Amino acid sequence: MDNRLLSRIERSFKLPLSSTKKIIKSFHSEMSKGLSGGKSSLAMLPAFIGMPAGDEAGRFIVLDLGGTNFRVQEVVLEGGGKAQVTAENRFGLKKKDITGTGKELFDFIAGKIKDFMQIYKISPNEKRCLGFTFSFPMDQTDITNGSLIRWTKEFSATGVVGRDVVSLLESALKRKGVNNIRVAALLNDTVGTLLAKGYTDRECDLGVILGTGTNASYPEDTVKIRKWRGAKKPARRMLINMEWGNFNKLPRTVYDERLDRATSNSGMQTMEKMVSGFYLGEITRLISLDLIKKKALFSGDMPAAFARPGRFGAREVFNMERDNSKRLNEIGKILTGLGISRSTHSDRGSIKRICRVVKVRSAHIGTAAMAAVILWMDPKIERRHTIAIDGSLFEKSPGYRKYIKLFLRNLLGIKADRIKLALANGGSGKGAAIAAAIINS
Ligand code: BGC
Repeated sequence: MDNRLLSRIERSFKLPLSSTKKIIKSFHSEMSKGLSGGKSSLAMLPAFIGMPAGDEAGRFIVLDLGGTNFRVQEVVLEGGGKAQVTAENRFGLKKKDITGTGKELFDFIAGKIKDFMQIYKISPNEKRCLGFTFSFPMDQTDITNGSLIRWTKEFSATGVVGRDVVSLLESALKRKGVNNIRVAALLNDTVGTLLAKGYTDRECDLGVILGTGTNASYPEDTVKIRKWRGAKKPARRMLINMEWGNFNKLPRTVYDERLDRATSNSGMQTMEKMVSGFYLGEITRLISLDLIKKKALFSGDMPAAFARPGRFGAREVFNMERDNSKRLNEIGKILTGLGISRSTHSDRGSIKRICRVVKVRSAHIGTAAMAAVILWMDPKIERRHTIAIDGSLFEKSPGYRKYIKLFLRNLLGIKADRIKLALANGGSGKGAAIAAAIINS
């Protein structure tokens, strides 16, 4: 194995402190442009809702669409920060569901809502409010509408971009004969995550998703939202869906460029493609492929699993990276599952190193982005902040949280202790109910 080659790749994935600081600076500049309506890779979309008081109450249906699964839930808010999911149906979305027509997609979802109402015996005569978490960039002029700006995460259902997704859902519900549901609130998953944690934690002011996709939202002073054109003067603070996955001022490697060219939204979601779970497997595959072609891995034999995209996911990356056994048996097992029965110890060691740089860079960029938003809100970090984080990278990848803490420490010194990282597992569902309750009150 040519160690120099792998070391060179590793170096190209590292972010020294000086580049992290530069990234934060350009993050701030893009945030500022986005808020004033200038050209920016950060859309900075007003969410038409502020933070909850904590006493919101009621019983709501919640629809959560935006990743590999979608969920229908009933959420009961009891006030005093208590929220309970009293019923839940979760469905996997297949490629055909997300790449067909929008009508098919919304009919499928409406059908599942109808089933949910029947299974949990919710009478068709009982009026219900629904909170709709839709985890894609959308232009809202109010909390009850939003037109899709563009699909991400390889969704491509036709006839949805530029249309109001609430109307699309309501029409589909009507077609299914569901007439007792009113969509009370439409929100991004980061907004839901922030609302859910903010319901119980007054110090929470950043909601982050590190999962299939990545993004964040935070409360902004409305005077700073200079692009505001709404009719009514909004409340003092409003949540902003940043759409940070599209941030495009990061140093990219040749592998990032290759990956981007093969995606359906090439040139967009640059940061997401370096950070989120949907892409980590593919970056790992592209690096491995390069090493195989240079005869620096598997003696140059090209295993079928590496020749085409798709066999490698974030789960494989994490499972291989965490193999600390002497003989790297777990990596060997995963490789065997991928059809590579004869890997040497050196091959397995290289694969581990590749998985590690891909994962560590993801955590590093995620941390730089989080630090940028905290520093934007509180430049000297004088207050305490809770960051509500949801998504499989943070929840399931061993060591990911540890890396975030380490990078925050390196960047902010002792002040990093004022920042708490809180897992907000499934928070976006509860957040959708909270949004519906805020609007109803
Ligand atoms: C979407 C965001 C979403 C994020 C996490 C991104 O692809 O653009 O709206 O919040 O994924 O689900």
